[in-house]
Amino acid sequence: MQQRLINYVKAGYAGLFIVSTEEQRVEAEIAAVAKSTKFKLHAWSITEGITTVAETPEAIPDSQDPFAMLQAFDNLPERSILLCRDFHMILAERNPMTFRKLKDSLLLAKASNRVLVIVGCTLQLPPELEKEITVLEFLLPDRAQLNEVMRAVAKSAKVKICEDIADTLIDAACGLTTTEAENAFALSIVEAKEIIASIVAREKGNTIRKNGLLEIVDVKTSLDDIGGLENLKLDLNEKRHCFTKAAHDYGLPAPRGCLIVGQPGTGKSLTAQATASVFNIPLIRLEAGKLFGSLVGQSEGNWRAAFATAKAVSPCILWIDEVEGLFAGSKSSGETDSGVTNRVIKAILQDMQFNSEGIFYVFTANDIDGLPDPLIDRLDVWSVDLPTQTERESIWKIHIEKRGRKADKFKLPELAQKTDGFSGRQIEQVWLKAMNIAFNDKHREPTNSDIVKASSRFVATSTTMAEAIQKRRERLKNRATPASAPEKAKDMTRKLAK
Ligand SMILES: Nc1ncnc2c1ncn2[C@@H]1O[C@H](COP(=O)(O)OP(=O)(O)OP(=O)(O)O)[C@@H](O)[C@H]1O
Ligand SMILES: [Mg+2]
Repeated sequence: MQQRLINYVKAGYAGLFIVSTEEQRVEAEIAAVAKSTKFKLHAWSITEGITTVAETPEAIPDSQDPFAMLQAFDNLPERSILLCRDFHMILAERNPMTFRKLKDSLLLAKASNRVLVIVGCTLQLPPELEKEITVLEFLLPDRAQLNEVMRAVAKSAKVKICEDIADTLIDAACGLTTTEAENAFALSIVEAKEIIASIVAREKGNTIRKNGLLEIVDVKTSLDDIGGLENLKLDLNEKRHCFTKAAHDYGLPAPRGCLIVGQPGTGKSLTAQATASVFNIPLIRLEAGKLFGSLVGQSEGNWRAAFATAKAVSPCILWIDEVEGLFAGSKSSGETDSGVTNRVIKAILQDMQFNSEGIFYVFTANDIDGLPDPLIDRLDVWSVDLPTQTERESIWKIHIEKRGRKADKFKLPELAQKTDGFSGRQIEQVWLKAMNIAFNDKHREPTNSDIVKASSRFVATSTTMAEAIQKRRERLKNRATPASAPEKAKDMTRKLAK
């Protein structure tokens, strides 16, 4: 990062925008750049105006106002860097006076070796200024930097770090900013008198969730929790070593990911979660609809921030759930420009193409229509349908056992027949209803007939959604590989309403 900044400064770039929430770390980096390029560093904030960053700081009077700041910037000596704090918020106001003045000032600055550096936590660069200002992503701290932070926290608290687990502790902090990591390490010391990976990881989960877009899913699902979908499970199992060092050394490229599309309640999200235990890497969930913000540039900025976190946590699974939301979300936001969706999709595709090492993407969706071809093209596409007779039997078995009952006490083929046309989700609901019936009857154990009785109270998904299901089947026919293994013709029943 520092070297890139030095290059930009030396090459005479007049406007830079650094996207980061880590103000202090960025400022320290810019100070180092100024020192190495022998540029004079000044900093501006709306409260203090411009001051020279030096042992004895000098303030430029009356330079608090953004317009006045730009005027003062024009008069700074040659070879100066002006760091502007919170200026992204001023840009968001879209004041034409500020835009015009900024453009003029940058033109002047180019001729006299002055650089304006905006530091902002979100990328809010109006299209009018895209050509004038170069955006730089400030990456989250790498392992070496986190190691330094950890050692510093441990030292100041006089706590020893067990070298055998040092790597695991750093793993737990990857994806956090330096301040967040510092807090997580310190909290662990307060709670446990030492740095413990599970506490740091828990704090990381909380911090990432608080940031809004991502969630680290605590995975408890394995492939054994999924009934049917044998083709998909087999494929994932075959890839299970792909993120190991051995596979990497062997020269095996890591797979890019998969798209799981199909009928509701059939195990798409369940499978996405299970991938984490197959590969034994963390699972980060991104809700596609949340990417879209109401401010210009915010959507792309959201993606960049989310991707930077995923990258820092990698190797990991990045699960983009309900990917249709990418489209619906853009319509409901304040960004009426339809180009916004395209720009976000383009950013996602570019990152997938060029920068995805260590990330396995799992997209889940009900429909494939509307998803961009280049996305479909880059992924293994699986279609998931309502479960077949054999699949229903295994779903029944899984759910009965999940609630601590023995599956051989029930007639699974009969239960599967009675629930023809039901989704996996509905089967679970029928089972819970049957347990409820039995519980209300003197807390006795549920029986086959309770389940049959309970199932009659439900209308199968195949009936309620007959038309949508049929249409979806047609759309997916030649575009996706069936996740379910082929079955004997007699077992293929997944009846639709007449
Ligand atoms: N194949 C399956 N095996 C076991 N349980 C299943 C299966 N399919 C669905 N279920 C049950 O139904 C619940 C819902 O499934 P899941 O969330 O994976 O559905 P989905 O396909 O993602 O649905 P949606 O399209 O509504 O998002 C699961 O938590 C699980 O209990
Ligand atoms: Mg789902």
